[in-house]
Amino acid sequence: MSDLPGLGRVVLASNNAGKLREFASLLDAAGIELIAQGELGVPEAQEPHPTFVENALAKARHASSLTELPALADDSGLCVRALNGAPGVYSARYASLNVNGDEKSDAANNARLVADLKDATDHRRAYYVCVLVLVRHADDPEPLIAEGRWHGEVLDAPRGANGFGYDPYFFLPTLNASAAELDPARKNALSHRALALRELLQQLKELA
Ligand code: IMP
Repeated sequence: MSDLPGLGRVVLASNNAGKLREFASLLDAAGIELIAQGELGVPEAQEPHPTFVENALAKARHASSLTELPALADDSGLCVRALNGAPGVYSARYASLNVNGDEKSDAANNARLVADLKDATDHRRAYYVCVLVLVRHADDPEPLIAEGRWHGEVLDAPRGANGFGYDPYFFLPTLNASAAELDPARKNALSHRALALRELLQQLKELA
């Protein structure tokens, strides 16, 4: 059991199996047992807000209010310097923004990213960001909020076949590899999600 009152079983406001594995293995060390919201019959929440933290908070509150359990949610995206932080919170549906749709296609998103950066000078700097929010209950006045940023550069042509989303175009100069060229375990240890999770664990330790 966790040392934090009320924590122990925590619902993850996502049904992504990869995220569940990644988060569960690290949170296990803090005595937290993560359960995917789908297992408890929680439907996906809307993500209508213009900031990562608002979307993560909305998802956490939604899962917590329906399950009466503490809830953990994340929101993440790619922020490109030459695009003033776009695609940002709209990363999942970047390509369909122009056409007012809601389609989530990695191939279309990457095509739009490359097209948008075609004429940009100094366009390479970018980072993935992940914001994690943990609420003890739906109206928690003190949600724990942790952020992680993974810095890299945008490539003009894809490299690698692992990962998902923008990974084939996200280059790590210090590793001389794109995120899609990294072994999945390596990516999971280095990524924006890993950085945010470590920060969250630190906050949990300080509160224990
Ligand atoms: P979500 O927060 O999991 O919904 O992610 C939002 C979007 O950000 C995804 O659909 C991807 O387009 C992008 N994204 C977030 N994290 C990653 C990553 O680790 N690799 C590639 N794309 C990512």
